Amino acid sequence: MRLVVTLRSRQAVGPRAQISRIKMLDVEVRELMQAFVLSDYQVQEVYSRFCAEIAKGLKRSTHVQANTKCFPTYVQDLPTGDEMGKYLALDLGGTNFRVLLVSLKGHHDATVESQIYAVPKDLMVGPGVELFDHIAECLARFVEKHDMRNSHLPLGFTFSFPCEQIGLKEAILVRWTKGFGCPGVEGEDVGRLLHEAIQRRGDVEIAVVAILNDTTGTLMSCAHRNADCRVGVIVGTGCNACYVEDVANVDLLHPDFKRTQRQVLVNAEWGAFGESGQLDFLRTEYDREVDDTSINKSEQLFEKMTSGMYLGRLVRLVLIRAIQRKVLFKLSNRREHFATAMQKNEDVFETRYISEIESDSFPEFPKTRSIITELFGLEKASVEDCQKIRYICECVSKRAATLVAIGVSGLINRISNRRIVVGMDGSVYRYHPKFDAYMRYTMHKLVKSDKEFDIMLSEDGSGRGAALVAAVASKTK
Ligand code: BGC
Repeated sequence: MRLVVTLRSRQAVGPRAQISRIKMLDVEVRELMQAFVLSDYQVQEVYSRFCAEIAKGLKRSTHVQANTKCFPTYVQDLPTGDEMGKYLALDLGGTNFRVLLVSLKGHHDATVESQIYAVPKDLMVGPGVELFDHIAECLARFVEKHDMRNSHLPLGFTFSFPCEQIGLKEAILVRWTKGFGCPGVEGEDVGRLLHEAIQRRGDVEIAVVAILNDTTGTLMSCAHRNADCRVGVIVGTGCNACYVEDVANVDLLHPDFKRTQRQVLVNAEWGAFGESGQLDFLRTEYDREVDDTSINKSEQLFEKMTSGMYLGRLVRLVLIRAIQRKVLFKLSNRREHFATAMQKNEDVFETRYISEIESDSFPEFPKTRSIITELFGLEKASVEDCQKIRYICECVSKRAATLVAIGVSGLINRISNRRIVVGMDGSVYRYHPKFDAYMRYTMHKLVKSDKEFDIMLSEDGSGRGAALVAAVASKTK
């Protein structure tokens, strides 16, 4: 078996490393960012509140008030590695939509062929029927291209939004997140909507056998490679986790459901944590503005502090304030112009810039300088300004990683296994140079001392994971 646990270089991320670098910066930028730096007390407090919320989500009597809904996924079997067969998979949950053909080959092995299709912005908020027609059309094109029109392959649908599952292939969308807002889908079974769209076309015959969240796919695909994997986490456009819970603690399973195992995967939907005010003692004016201007105000507050859709927006707001307060570009007489450039649109500072800036080399800062040129038309930014911008990015991403680590630690501590591997995916985790190290730093403080943990990077959780869910489902049958 190939070991894929990521052994990333340990980077200095503790307070000491931070302090020595910050000493070089002026006091104003430190003051500006103070609200993003979490104290040990705050970390502990969020940890306790998070654990209490998960317990609430699992219990039938408190579930309605809970933010973290802890939906049972109806997936009970983890893969053994010997799964075989060909499966189709759909992956909808971010800015792209993918169709995949997954061949499970036994021996923990799989190959994936896939095609990416854009989801046009107007479809993300247009009528639901049109979104599902688009999905069915892409699926038909893919099947045609691979000459599989009559192959009747089972299909796993990775639909990465909060859904209350009624069974493995019935999932009611509770709410849209991540900038989606198609009317006519909330409260409906997305499996049925997909089935109907396929029927409307009438040119492909495909059976949807499983609907799953991307975190479930991540957990399954990592468990396929490493038998200790018990938690799946996404830190991408959105942020969420899934974990293996003892069936005895899950009140919400349908009474008719055949409990084949003592465990069941639970989709925590932790992005909604904080909606009852639990994070208000941490939220900054920037967090409130990001929320106020979003299309889902007051919702997904934990997600808005941790995920790729929002981290760039947070940095942008801080940069505007830094420019206005003369913390940045102190000596320039074009400061007003710089601030206006940042106000143009809320996504002008892309989240990927944070990763690029934090991985840049000192004192040349070539990537940071080219981003500054692109954003402000300023050719030769000073080393001090580059350092300050990097510090701003570090504070925002470190807080995000700390919050994610709090959630992961809370879930790990619920699981009885001594050794636990966490499967991770998502663009923020994957491309940020220090997110992993930031997370481990906090996890070492919070994970119970009798446990051992590791983090592994998922390889195509949404595709391979969907195929694995479909495969273990048919095994169970
Ligand atoms: C959704 C989750 C999903 C996460 C990561 C969130 O917005 O609510 O279901 O797992 O994004 O894609």
